[in-house]
This record gives sequence, C-alpha cells and structure tokens, in this order.
Amino acid sequence: MNVVPVPRSPGVDLQTPIARHWMGGNVFLTHSVNGVCILFPAGERFFVRAVRHYMKDVSDPLLHARVKGFFGQEGRHAKEHERAFALLEEQGYRIEGFLKFYEWLGYGVIEKIAPRKLSLATTVALEHYTAILAEHALGTDLLDNADPRMRALLSWHAAEEIEHRSVAFDVLREIDASYAWRMAGLVLGSMCLAGFWSAATASLLLQEKDLPRGKIRRDMMRTSARIRKRLPLWRALKSYVKREFHPGDSDMDHLAARYLRESRLDLAAHAPS
Ligand SMILES: [Fe+2]
Ligand SMILES: [Fe+2]
Repeated sequence: MNVVPVPRSPGVDLQTPIARHWMGGNVFLTHSVNGVCILFPAGERFFVRAVRHYMKDVSDPLLHARVKGFFGQEGRHAKEHERAFALLEEQGYRIEGFLKFYEWLGYGVIEKIAPRKLSLATTVALEHYTAILAEHALGTDLLDNADPRMRALLSWHAAEEIEHRSVAFDVLREIDASYAWRMAGLVLGSMCLAGFWSAATASLLLQEKDLPRGKIRRDMMRTSARIRKRLPLWRALKSYVKREFHPGDSDMDHLAARYLRESRLDLAAHAPS
C-alpha cells in the first residue's frame, strides 16, 4: 500500500459547546474517548519525532513522500485535538494536571531513556492500534449516537490513520527489519497505551460528582460488553505478532475512502487548516 497520505482540514466547528456526555449519554464511553483524545497531541508529535530521526536513512523517494504526508496528517491531528481541549475545559473538566504528568512521564522520562529504534518500533505498534480503532470507528455503529461535530472530527482522524497506517512500519522495515525490535515496540507501546489511556479516562470519571448512583458502573458494563463483542483487539494482536505481518494487508481502505467521499473531504484535500 503505497498511497501518499494527504493532509486535510476536518472543517469542524470546535468553538461552540457540546453536551458533556456526547457519546449518546454514555458517561464511561464518552470519557474513554475523551481520554484517548487527550493523549493524541503529545503522542502524535512523538510519532513524528520518532520517524523524523531516521529520515536520513530512508533512500526510497516514494517512502520519503509518504513520510512527509504522514507528518502533515499527524501534525494536523495534534492541532485539531488540542483545539478540542477547550471544549472539555468549557464543560468544567480539568485536564492540565493529567497532561503535565503524562507528558513528563511519557516524553520527559520514557522517551528520553528508550533507544531511538525502540521509539520507532513503539510508534509502529501504536499506529497499528490506531488503525484498528479507526477501523472500528468507521466500520461499526460506534459513533452513530455521538455529537455530530465530534463524530466528524473522529471520522476524519480515523480515515487519515487508515490512509497512513503503513508509513512508520515501512520506515522501520527499511532501517532494521528485525522481528525483535518490532516485538519490543509492541510491549512498550501496549503498556504505555493501556496505562496512559486508563489513567486519562479515570482522571475524567473521577470528576463526575453529581451523577445518579450506579450510572458510571452501568455505562461501564454496557461499554465492556460492546467492546468484547465488537472490537477485534485480540485478532489485531495475533496478526501483529506474525512474522509476515504488514499493516497494508488488512482490508480497511474502503472505509476511509467511503468516509472521505461521503464527507467530500476527498475534494477538500488541500484546503488550508
Ligand atoms: Fe493521527
Ligand atoms: Fe497515525
């Protein structure tokens, strides 16, 4: 899959307030999505740093062009999600404390001590997780009851994640195709994603003081049942640990193409942000 990713503007109004529990009233699901969204900006800038370090070792001009498109897309994702922070703050949630902790531990400590190749391999693993989540967002009814603006923001992000899902992998393969590095990245990436995502979600849920008794627990049960049934995380892990794994082998391009066509973002590919 050698498509050159195209950075687009999502064209979403993030100025006017949205409902606090914008995932169809499900508090747990709303904060799980809010939680991963607050990880995105610093995480995506980390992906760009991890890949940029090896640009000098990439000789294939097509891969160079794909990496440039990847940088453009991730840069825009980071900016747009950062704009959405204001919505959360407007709803009364405090996120700066968590963000300080996350950025310090993730990028001030772990990134500083990890070898550069491990940072790249971790990026590759996290890009795989992102693509699986993107497939879930565009290919199921997950966002059907979401606030339309958040749905548009997440669908735009998901479509571009699907589009560039092989780029970091192909850079790692060009500089070092070893299976051991890819697996080391999977271990670190999985631990960081699980730890930071749970902490971000918990930091938001703990701020819900005025909900009816048992509401969070009920929403959590509903969400866990749905995830167990619909999100193919185990299958995604099993395919990633195969030696012959390549992100481009998974059949999800049609989901991105359909969304970009229906939202007319395919026409607005070069619109300024
Ligand atoms: Fe992204
Ligand atoms: Fe990405």
